Amino acid sequence: MPQVSQRSLSKPCYRILGIESSCDETAAAVVENGVTILSNVVASQASLHAPFGGVFPEVASRQHLITFSPVIEQALREAHVELCEVDAIAVTRGPGLPGSLVVGMNLAKGLAMVSGKPLIGVHHLEAHLLSTELIGEPERNSIAYPAIGLIVSGGHTELVLIEEPLRYRSLGGTLDDAAGEAFDKVARLLNLPYPGGPSIQIASKNGDANAFAFPRAWLEGSWNFSFSGLKTAVLREVKRLERFASGLPVEDLAASFQQAVVDVLVGKTLLAAETFQAKSILVVGGVSANQALREAFLSQSSLPVLIPPLFLCTDNAAMVAVVGYWRFLKGQVDGLEMDVLPNWPLVSLSESPQSTSGGGLVVLPDISE
Ligand code: KG4
Ligand code: ZN
Repeated sequence: MPQVSQRSLSKPCYRILGIESSCDETAAAVVENGVTILSNVVASQASLHAPFGGVFPEVASRQHLITFSPVIEQALREAHVELCEVDAIAVTRGPGLPGSLVVGMNLAKGLAMVSGKPLIGVHHLEAHLLSTELIGEPERNSIAYPAIGLIVSGGHTELVLIEEPLRYRSLGGTLDDAAGEAFDKVARLLNLPYPGGPSIQIASKNGDANAFAFPRAWLEGSWNFSFSGLKTAVLREVKRLERFASGLPVEDLAASFQQAVVDVLVGKTLLAAETFQAKSILVVGGVSANQALREAFLSQSSLPVLIPPLFLCTDNAAMVAVVGYWRFLKGQVDGLEMDVLPNWPLVSLSESPQSTSGGGLVVLPDISE
């Protein structure tokens, strides 16, 4: 009698190797059935970029080249799987830094070629949204659709209507700086170390959030955001205060800035949830690690608010593997000719007639009126 493996007797079990390199984190992970993390390895380059006060693109891609092999080996080892045992390889295709994306993409192509496994290109923002799938039960069960998704990271601030899993409508985004970018730039103004988000959070702890009445750009009538006016207001205040010998009240400035960002992000997201009769809210991306933002959402929302644990807020490959799992189930795999898309808009991939391979993408209309 032929031997039947334990794996084929039980219900289908799919393991996806995720690869992420859209910015300054070199990451690989293995996730089982889209919900169970078998391994999640992240090599942060933060200390390399700190002297520049932001991500230096050439340094980032060079470091990805150096770090990727050991990171992938570690991810497979910790998951106790061989490359030939994963069911597909999912890689971030965009948006992100072109050079960084290319390193991850070429590596994923090489792995797909030698292993014969399917290759799946993943949208980085969709991966952030689906990082909520990794939260675990019972919290994950409170994701109900339609849902409003707020994606807040170093490169993006997007408000998204999630009509059902994998179907998104972009409601609006930032007109200038992303929320994380604003944190990073204001941290630099206050001489706080990079990355600015965590530094401002720490400085805010002992600050008075009402010390400075910084502006809130509500942009009423649209679901867009703007943070450059707020950044300029902080700069003006810093310049004014520098004339005095007493030194900058960094903690008060940080806390007042942070409060202004939190007010707008929470206020507009809750309004969108009400307007589109959402049943739950997902808050994802690096800035969702912010304690004040998390507390404001949880205390002000009457709907369930799902925010991933801190290690899944910032860039990681486990979230890439989750999207890979869902695309794999739908048969949406890509060919080896796939290229990176550094400016890929968030679109409804489920309506794409030809998977994620570029031409069939449906860019949804702006419905912010
Ligand atoms: O999602 P992410 O890791 O990378 C991008 O896709 O951009 O987000 C990085 C951003 C940085 O701007 C960083 O300052 C911000 O997330 N961030 C935070 C916090 N932790 C990270 N912002 C505010 N508060 C935090 N605790
Ligand atoms: Zn990100």
